[in-house]
Amino acid sequence: MSESRAVGVFDSGVGGLSVLREIHARLPGQPLIYLADSAHVPYGEKTPEFIRERCRRIADFLLAQGACALVLACNTATAAAISDLRSLYPGLPLVGMEPAVKPAAQATRTGVIGVLATTGTLRSAKFAALLDQVGHDVNVIMQPCPGLVERIEAGELASPATRALLAAWVEPLLAAGCDTLILGCTHYPFIRPLLEDMLPASVSLIDTGAAVARRLEGLLAERGFLSGGSDDAPIRFWSSAAPQRMASVLPLLWGHEAEVGFFAG
Ligand code: DGL
Repeated sequence: MSESRAVGVFDSGVGGLSVLREIHARLPGQPLIYLADSAHVPYGEKTPEFIRERCRRIADFLLAQGACALVLACNTATAAAISDLRSLYPGLPLVGMEPAVKPAAQATRTGVIGVLATTGTLRSAKFAALLDQVGHDVNVIMQPCPGLVERIEAGELASPATRALLAAWVEPLLAAGCDTLILGCTHYPFIRPLLEDMLPASVSLIDTGAAVARRLEGLLAERGFLSGGSDDAPIRFWSSAAPQRMASVLPLLWGHEAEVGFFAG
């Protein structure tokens, strides 16, 4: 494939596919390379140093594959590693993500926002700085979700175990008057239907995949890296765990089967 204009997208696992689908929907003609670091998922319980080292290796690999831009489709990796990557690759178009506290603060009517995210994201200095900027006029309740990423990696999008985990986190948020719930981890859009089923219609869910796709489009356009056209460009998938594991959840999470390469880095 002509990968000179490919965008490399990566996550600790398959969660970043929720961002990849937004990118592909907005930029169907852009070749994409997706890497799931599933041998090391979840990042949410790892140290920032470990995550930075993984991100460096993955970025090197994706650039060697011809990527002209990178998307950290992972809130936890962005919090730990985006500054490091920006200084390692000055000038490289690089898009990260953070929980959508700003839009949630504008949207809430009760003044109570819930943030579902990993322990790593919620503990990070980057998240503390974000709260400092926008969190003063609203009550932001942080809810770490240990164990949820593993359920989603296994394709359990609506199993009793997944539902029970969510119920235990969501009920106290509702009792506190939360009307706006941020999906602060790229795995969570995959359990959005389950959450919608559990929440009253008055609660809005916010995620950032579409905003990341818009930001990427802007950066690619600035550099002249946009591949136009509405025909589907090739998308390659890589995983650091057994490729079969990712291949088996692609029909559910991506919509169809695809070949998955092994990333040994
Ligand atoms: N999908 C990731 C995020 O957006 C990380 C999940 C994990 O590996 O803990 O935070």
